[in-house]
Amino acid sequence: MKAIVYRRFGPPDVLELADVAEPRLRRGEALVRVEAAALNPKDVLVRKGRMRWAGALTLPRTPGYDFAGQIERLHPSVQSSAGVAVGDEVFGMVQAMRGGTCAELVAVPTDELAPRPRGLSAERAAALPLVALTALQALRDLGELRAGQRLLVNGASGGVGTVALQIARARGAQITAVCSAANAAMVRALGADEVIDYNEQDPTSGERRYHVFFDTFGNRRYADARRVLLDEGRYVTTVPNARSLRQEVLGRLGLSRARLVVVRSRRRDLENIATLVEVGVLEPVIDRVLPLEKSAEAHAHLETRRARGKVVLTVG
Ligand SMILES: NC(=O)c1ccc[n+]([C@@H]2O[C@H](COP(=O)([O-])OP(=O)(O)OC[C@H]3O[C@@H](n4cnc5c(N)ncnc54)[C@H](OP(=O)(O)O)[C@@H]3O)[C@@H](O)[C@H]2O)c1
Repeated sequence: MKAIVYRRFGPPDVLELADVAEPRLRRGEALVRVEAAALNPKDVLVRKGRMRWAGALTLPRTPGYDFAGQIERLHPSVQSSAGVAVGDEVFGMVQAMRGGTCAELVAVPTDELAPRPRGLSAERAAALPLVALTALQALRDLGELRAGQRLLVNGASGGVGTVALQIARARGAQITAVCSAANAAMVRALGADEVIDYNEQDPTSGERRYHVFFDTFGNRRYADARRVLLDEGRYVTTVPNARSLRQEVLGRLGLSRARLVVVRSRRRDLENIATLVEVGVLEPVIDRVLPLEKSAEAHAHLETRRARGKVVLTVG
């Protein structure tokens, strides 16, 4: 099958389209024929070799965590009660460091996929899983965001941010979005009641106090965000580093109000996300769609950190 592979860590030009062996199905897995895959900053970090601390990263590798496609085969261990069948149109996120969705076929545990939202193309469905799971798990589980509460989303125009705005709007929050002036109109359309241009104003200063400070971009420390948090307010970041990992440990012990979200692929959450799409409160925001063979160009664009929403690759 065709797949994007890289044989050494490095810049986007290490990516090449190659013929590789089909993935071997393991217990509990479905073989998915990929129609579209979406990229995330994690793909860039892994490709650069910057995430070797997070686990053994073997080479050659195929990038990609998000996918949408059709189930082609099931491992014999998958029971009919698993709720998946050959021919199902599905979307999902491959958990942890494994990756491999930038290929014609990928093997996925059946609890890391769900039926694609009705009426959504593969390209649009592939744009959702990782960022929507992250935003949902951050706002619902760690931020415990409730109706009427005030939320600040830093990095509101990116992959995670554009989904976080819509999920927060659906939960009835009052939203302040932080982005560059060029993206102000877009974030308002996605649910922001107020927009801060980070070139004009420091979002960790000012009079307004928030119940939840969601730092999707990862450049605002808890120590600074506290200035604009209510006493009971919570800070959630997406970016692991020594500081946020320490805060996460303290947060789990109830000694800090700062948490680090570590996205988990869960069928139940994917089903929730599909429902949000189907009832019309969530839609993917796509910066651009490129064919799989233009993966190097897609990675280079994502690396600018200026993408408005998602960069999607079509496969086949
Ligand atoms: N821990 C986890 O499980 C997890 C899960 C998902 C993502 N993440 C991490 O979360 C981060 C964001 O992911 P993403 O997919 O949203 O990234 P992304 O789509 O690449 O983010 C791009 C956005 O960042 C904004 N941005 C650039 N400079 C900024 C600044 N100084 N202040 C605020 N916003 C700025 C840009 O908006 P403007 O052009 O308007 O500035 C652009 O829209 C990444 O580091 C990713 O690795 C972690």
